[in-house]
Amino acid sequence: MAADTHRQQALQQAANAARYAPSVHNTQPWRWVVRPDRLELYAVTDRQLPVQDPEGHLLLTSCGTALHHACIALAAAGWSYRIDRPADAPLAVLHPIELGPVDPTAIRHFEQLQVRHTDRRTVTDDPVAPAVLDDLVQVSEAAGARLHVLSRDQVIELAVLVEHAQKAEGADERLQAETAAWVGGERPAGTGIPAASLPQEVPLTTVAERDFGAAGSLPPGAGHDAAATYGVLYGPGDEPADWLRAGEALDALWLKATEHGVSLLPLSSPVEVPFTRFELRRMLGDIGYPYLVVRLGSLDPDHAGPAHTPRLPTDQVIDVVE
Ligand SMILES: Cc1cc2nc3c(=O)[nH]c(=O)nc-3n(C[C@H](O)[C@H](O)[C@H](O)COP(=O)(O)O)c2cc1C
Repeated sequence: MAADTHRQQALQQAANAARYAPSVHNTQPWRWVVRPDRLELYAVTDRQLPVQDPEGHLLLTSCGTALHHACIALAAAGWSYRIDRPADAPLAVLHPIELGPVDPTAIRHFEQLQVRHTDRRTVTDDPVAPAVLDDLVQVSEAAGARLHVLSRDQVIELAVLVEHAQKAEGADERLQAETAAWVGGERPAGTGIPAASLPQEVPLTTVAERDFGAAGSLPPGAGHDAAATYGVLYGPGDEPADWLRAGEALDALWLKATEHGVSLLPLSSPVEVPFTRFELRRMLGDIGYPYLVVRLGSLDPDHAGPAHTPRLPTDQVIDVVE
């Protein structure tokens, strides 16, 4: 097979693998253009959440997870690559460089793409082992954002901030209507959060999970979040490029957690409300800008979690240019 055809096929497969990346409310706000020698990533503002995410922070974080998924797929196909980050559109350009022997570690990472998912059940009483936490801290830093693990006192502070954010968002009718559209409603086919992924009732935890305003069919589990670890992903900048990086780090962290059998649940409400985002930054001691809160923990292995959420068909997120 000609090298160019091989390259473009690998790029197409990488864009396809990126369809399974996590995104806020499963909006999948990205589009790929597959060219013979490169892969371009664009944000799709039609699938932005204008009320909840007016600045596009979560849109860019979601695009970052897709970018990282594509990189994992390219590496698993044996390609080395370079990422360019133009100042304007596209958000990123992936250039494959050379095809070489496939590293088994890359294959292991790739396998996690099929396993990773969001599970909103309560965690068990088994805490995440310190060595695993250390690994997760290292993995997210290497991928572009740092993970600050919260102390017990900080978890209580976080619970207060989350409650404040949820109250503010709960009182915003436009925001409630926007959320409802992605968890039921007239959302585009292949997007949004199905009832099977939402708890039957919001679990009673110290740090509240997002209230999507709709009861689902997922048994929430008997546990609490007493043994959960909470962390804040943060970094030195608050520009669009930083939020894209945050998404790459979130994805790297999530895939590594999956590999360790650790469940990760993102909690974005405290970074959506300006006041709580500011307070979260203060809680970090002004060492950086907060991008997202994550809950880490173990799940009941005897009960299956939710089925995978839907995805948009390939032709709606990938354009191939010969
Ligand atoms: C940037 C971002 C923010 C998210 N925020 C939340 C959140 O606050 N609460 C929640 O339950 N899930 C949150 N999620 C998880 C998404 O809802 C989930 O990724 C999406 O529905 C797709 O499902 P999957 O992860 O099972 O593939 C977030 C995901 C991303 C990428």
